[in-house]
Amino acid sequence: MFQRDLIDVIHRRAAMSKLALGSTVLIAAAVLTPAVAQAYGATGTVTTCANSGCTTPFAVPLPVPATLQPTSSDATTDSYTVTEKPANIAAIPGKTTPMWTYNGTWPGPVIKAKSGKTVKLTVINNLTVPTTLHNHGAHVDPSSDGVPTDTVAPGASRVYTYPNGISARTDWFHDHTKDVTGRNVYMGLAGLYEIGDSQEAAMNLPSDNYDVPLILQDRKFNADGTLNYTTGTNDWRDGTLGDTMFVNGAATPFFKVEARKYRFRLLNGSNGRYYNLSLSNSQAMVQVANEAGFLSVPYSLSTLALAPAERADVIVDFSTVPVGTSVTLNNGSGWNSTGGQQMRFDVSARTSADISSVPVSGRSFTPLPASAVTARRTFAIQQSNGMWMFNGKGYDPNRIDADVKLGATEEWTFVNRSGQDHPIHMHDINFQVVSGGATSGPDSEWKETINVPSWKSLTVRVQFPDFTGKYVFHCHILEHEDNMLMGQFQVS
Ligand code: C2O
Ligand code: CU
Repeated sequence: MFQRDLIDVIHRRAAMSKLALGSTVLIAAAVLTPAVAQAYGATGTVTTCANSGCTTPFAVPLPVPATLQPTSSDATTDSYTVTEKPANIAAIPGKTTPMWTYNGTWPGPVIKAKSGKTVKLTVINNLTVPTTLHNHGAHVDPSSDGVPTDTVAPGASRVYTYPNGISARTDWFHDHTKDVTGRNVYMGLAGLYEIGDSQEAAMNLPSDNYDVPLILQDRKFNADGTLNYTTGTNDWRDGTLGDTMFVNGAATPFFKVEARKYRFRLLNGSNGRYYNLSLSNSQAMVQVANEAGFLSVPYSLSTLALAPAERADVIVDFSTVPVGTSVTLNNGSGWNSTGGQQMRFDVSARTSADISSVPVSGRSFTPLPASAVTARRTFAIQQSNGMWMFNGKGYDPNRIDADVKLGATEEWTFVNRSGQDHPIHMHDINFQVVSGGATSGPDSEWKETINVPSWKSLTVRVQFPDFTGKYVFHCHILEHEDNMLMGQFQVS
């Protein structure tokens, strides 16, 4: 049976199970597990590692993902090649985990782009399943957006073109294949995509070895080391949650830092987990950018909430932490978050003077005026027959849910009629939260993914400046997205 057919069967089963009695739900879940396990060659039983209990915390160093080198470069364009391929990854001690990777590593390499300079990314699919690569955050023509149905067949390749006509920010690329994005990302298909610009360069932020991505993901494993990706009733409700926390592909690692300032590019790359991060010594993290780019001013935060797909660039200054001591990065409570330690910073002496600074201001922020709004739309989020839906409709690549005029400013209201939070992401553009969200702090400026809390409404104001064509918007809990919480807008 093809994976696509399998998923369709799963969807139908869920739809049926919701209509029938409770016992049917259990049968559906029991049927799912062996089928999915079989797809990955998994055997054995699931380990019971509550909060990394199966791994020793702080036993492995933090890996820093490699920066991908261009295959060619000229005045206007940098060209890169990424190969999607299986790899055996040392994720947990004494075991080998077969994963699907970009270039053989989990997470994939970092692509460092420059604002205004085109990147041509050739993706070679050496997996046995069709894939798409979505550059999350890209402002790009739909033909290079890697939307769910625009797949690259096994053995084929594809060139995606990103003009990078936006200011500096930390983006990421990940698989986006219809119905199986959750599985494909869980299997390892994610990497960081940084855009730099001259304004950022002038900020004198910590750079090079002191500018470090921290990609947060959680996984659970079978006893034989294979990933245990589950799509049972709980996973559809909460997203698939792991019991082992990873940073840059290492389980609860340690990182030797110098007593100086660091820039950390935090990405919540988890399928469904929310993070509420803090440092064990109660020190503030100074957030200078979110997933939509630089903020107008730095925000000093004692806790930092990250919904799936959200990013935060923070400056952490270890110069006041005694050399030889440690600080842990902890995850507190919140919806979908069981808490626990993410990683540990071990502070050592500076090897040179710290000449970096925390900027006093960043990118200027101008609210989109209410007077410019020409359309208002409402999208109610609800679970129906086991599927997640906007306005009672599941994702249909042949249906347009919003016809948008090029250049228009609109207000979109998401009405959450469920007991789960949903991080909503629109492709191609950024938006501003105008009601139902934060009125100060990093979430009150430009955003590109925003959490819509359970039983609450949230309105964003959004402008559609240039590209035309069909884009998707969806929940970024990947098991919600795969179970239909996705719509389409067409700009024309
Ligand atoms: Cu990060 Cu449409 O996705
Ligand atoms: Cu959701």
